[in-house]
Amino acid sequence: MAAEKPKTLTALEGEATLNPSFVRDEDERPKVAYNQFSDQIPVISIAGIDDPGKRSEICKKIVEACEDWGIFQVVDHGVDPNLVSDMTRLAREFFALPPEEKLRFDMSGGKKGGFIVSSHLQGEAVQDWREIVTYFSYPLKNRDYSRWPDKPEGWIKVTEEYSEKLMGLACKLLGVLSEAMGLETEALTKACVDMDQKVVVNYYPKCPQPDLTLGLKRHTDPGTIPLLLQDQVGGLQATRDGGKTWITVQPVPGAFVVNLGDHGHYLSNGRFKNADHQAVVNSNQSRLSIATFQNPAPEAIVYPLAIREGEKPILDEPITFAEMYRRKMSKDLELARLKKLAK
Ligand code: SIN
Ligand code: FE2
Repeated sequence: MAAEKPKTLTALEGEATLNPSFVRDEDERPKVAYNQFSDQIPVISIAGIDDPGKRSEICKKIVEACEDWGIFQVVDHGVDPNLVSDMTRLAREFFALPPEEKLRFDMSGGKKGGFIVSSHLQGEAVQDWREIVTYFSYPLKNRDYSRWPDKPEGWIKVTEEYSEKLMGLACKLLGVLSEAMGLETEALTKACVDMDQKVVVNYYPKCPQPDLTLGLKRHTDPGTIPLLLQDQVGGLQATRDGGKTWITVQPVPGAFVVNLGDHGHYLSNGRFKNADHQAVVNSNQSRLSIATFQNPAPEAIVYPLAIREGEKPILDEPITFAEMYRRKMSKDLELARLKKLAK
């Protein structure tokens, strides 16, 4: 008897109806189409940011965007467009490999890094409509090349360079936010201790019933400053009124979407927002996005670095990032449990 072919979402792409394990409760389903774009999220050019004559005007725009949505798109960021297009091309080639090739890096069972189909952010029952490949790139001691896909050829080298350039860009942006908080330029980077970086490449295959499901369920990112590269298909959505209304972020060629995470939010005492966001899918085209997360080290202390006059600290006590993450995950699990009970 022939062995059963390993299942990936790509294998589910051609099905006429959605497998019930992906069907979300009505209140979680998409409210706005993947391609109904909004221009509410500012697109900010940082050309000349190191030039003292231009810096303050650029910084003002970044700070306003972080206070308003906690999201903006950055262009003219200095990351080589050829590097960015190599990264996306090779990532797409990886997902086009046969399932057995991708599953050589299977990370189900708790392995650190590799490939997984429809992982759950919070261990809940409904599945996300995505495949991912992920790897830890900083600090260097966290690089386990045995978990970095060796195909397509050349991807490891491109990924290394991409990781380095994005770490540089993230630190530059954190410098702007530190100065806006009245601190030395390196303050936020230093608060991360030895900054972690994790790259998550998301592949969202075409979906037979996209109105019933999500590519990635609603969440805030836990870390400091994630940078997201998305293709021109569209699917990233954000809300700032607790999920009553959503906007679909307009894809901008070559831009990185910057959406601050919980750590950035706490360090600024809530001044900079950590927007709830999600990814929706569609039945016309597959979508690729590459999220590069700059996170504090697990032992880094999470507590506001600057508290403005008249404000109270938004955290009761300093905690480590590892503890912050643990509390976030257990709170999310508890909410999922209560929701299930209420059904
Ligand atoms: C993410 O939130 O990490 C990814 C969102 C997207 O793919 O647009
Ligand atoms: Fe996210």
